[in-house]
Amino acid sequence: MRTRIAVLASGNGSNLRALFRFFGEGAAVMDAEIAFVASNNRESGALELAGERRVAAAVISGREDDAPALAALLEQHRIDLIVLAGYLRLVPAAVARAFRGRVMNIHPALLPAFGGPGMYGERVHRAVIAAGVRVSGATVHFVDEIYDHGACIAQWPVPVYAGDSAATLALRVLRVEHLLLPRAVHAVATGSVRLDETGRVTGSLPSPDPAAAYALLAREDADIARDITRLFSR
Ligand code: GRF
Repeated sequence: MRTRIAVLASGNGSNLRALFRFFGEGAAVMDAEIAFVASNNRESGALELAGERRVAAAVISGREDDAPALAALLEQHRIDLIVLAGYLRLVPAAVARAFRGRVMNIHPALLPAFGGPGMYGERVHRAVIAAGVRVSGATVHFVDEIYDHGACIAQWPVPVYAGDSAATLALRVLRVEHLLLPRAVHAVATGSVRLDETGRVTGSLPSPDPAAAYALLAREDADIARDITRLFSR
């Protein structure tokens, strides 16, 4: 049976676009579909994208006390898996509990560093640059009741260069996000990666095996592959 995915987003929606592309192509079409999109921001590009694709969409408050309304929408659309793709609110605790192991988030840095409340958008990349670290990346993790906290599903590295601004780093990370998120969602949607009873993630993804991850990048995006090759030749 096809896994029905809800995507919650607050911003531009470029990760949603990557998900639409992935789940609209090849074998993935049969495995899962984006069945519902919700945003706490009426202006979100995610709502526009949902409209273009004729996918059900709603504006939600994003508040904790609106858990029943969100739960009702998820039930109405028979949602199996929730993906936070640039969603700036906390998923209400009741929903996070009801969907344990079936809510995932993408964060534009290597958690547990550079995450938590207030760490979103350019702030993340500014903090990474200020810390002087040489490697950042994208993290996909299961969601629990704490910001950027649940068990890690996959991480892919992205080099930080001396001349980087928050904007140049954000763009480099975002391109990796677009490759990583659909694959991580597919793995969870098909059950090849899951959260077990003890809170451990079992199964396998292209990450953390760097060789496999980079081979995949090389096939799909020569520029990112070149960045990563440079990182490892320094
Ligand atoms: C991404 O960097 C994501 O990791 C973060 O917010 C950004 C959303 O970008 N949580 P978009 O709306 O998908 O373009």
